[in-house]
Amino acid sequence: MTQSTHQNNTQLRDVIAIIDQQIESFVASKGFPDNLHQAIEYAVLGGGKRLRPALTWFSSIACGGTGNDSIHAGIAVELIHAFSLVHDDLPAMDDDDLRRGRPTLHIHTNEPMAILAGDAMLSLAYEAVMNTDDHSIARLLTGELAQGTRAMIIGQVYDTLGGLPTDRTDEEQIKLIHCNKTGALLTASCRMGAISANATEQQLDLITRYAQAIGLQFQIVDDLLDTEGTVEHVGKATGKDAAAGKLTYPGILGAARSRKIVQELADVASNALFDLEASTTGTTAQLAQLGKMLMVRKQ
Ligand code: IPE
Ligand code: IPE
Ligand code: MG
Ligand code: MG
Ligand code: MG
Repeated sequence: MTQSTHQNNTQLRDVIAIIDQQIESFVASKGFPDNLHQAIEYAVLGGGKRLRPALTWFSSIACGGTGNDSIHAGIAVELIHAFSLVHDDLPAMDDDDLRRGRPTLHIHTNEPMAILAGDAMLSLAYEAVMNTDDHSIARLLTGELAQGTRAMIIGQVYDTLGGLPTDRTDEEQIKLIHCNKTGALLTASCRMGAISANATEQQLDLITRYAQAIGLQFQIVDDLLDTEGTVEHVGKATGKDAAAGKLTYPGILGAARSRKIVQELADVASNALFDLEASTTGTTAQLAQLGKMLMVRKQ
């Protein structure tokens, strides 16, 4: 395991390299048949931003940890994310052919393999998080991962099948979808990093405030990219949400209001980091930088 001697200055590309190498060797250690092993590697590695494990790593650093102390949590959350994308793209769900600039897994292989590789990734994620050395921390991390995964699935049901509470405004409903299907796993990513670093309750609350803001912001930007982005940049089909009749922020509130909310959420996130910076021996610099990147991302 590569461990930087200057962890607090670790840069995003270094973290991504460590995560990718660790995911690769973890998956390879499981003795899967070649076809399943290749399908999992295809879905998890190669393309993708590794945003969630990066958030885990930098949330650890922000709470005074090493970053590397959250490695198993980071592997786990990226496996859950990759599983969610493989199933999200299936014909029965969003029916997408392109993901991360390449054919989706069910196009590259076939539908049964995409379903089963997704199942395997879900299971692998829990094996990964249980590799955390400290058992009481592993227990907390497992709970966070399960909660984030459960909310993601609930959000996917709302998004795909409905069933939303009816006593809400359109804006409340879309917020509920997005906070569940996307925000919860991003929140779990950050909280798992903080927990890995033995964060105080106050630090955990501030990390959660940051994470919930960027989590919702992330899916609003995803909605905006679906209407305004290019296939070359986003690496997936665009214009799909409106065609599929999905509830989205720009669809309900318009692009200008959606962008304003993105800005407001960015302010909430940076205020949370400001308060966190005052109550930690770590640094929130990388989380602040990530937050800025997410606001203006094109992919
Ligand atoms: C895509 O997530 C799915 C959403 C929650 C919007 P990302 O944009 O983080 O996907 P990758 O991992 O970079 O491919
Ligand atoms: C996906 O939302 C959220 C998941 C839990 C995978 P989208 O369906 O909008 O994500 P993309 O646009 O396909 O990446
Ligand atoms: Mg979807
Ligand atoms: Mg989709
Ligand atoms: Mg989308």
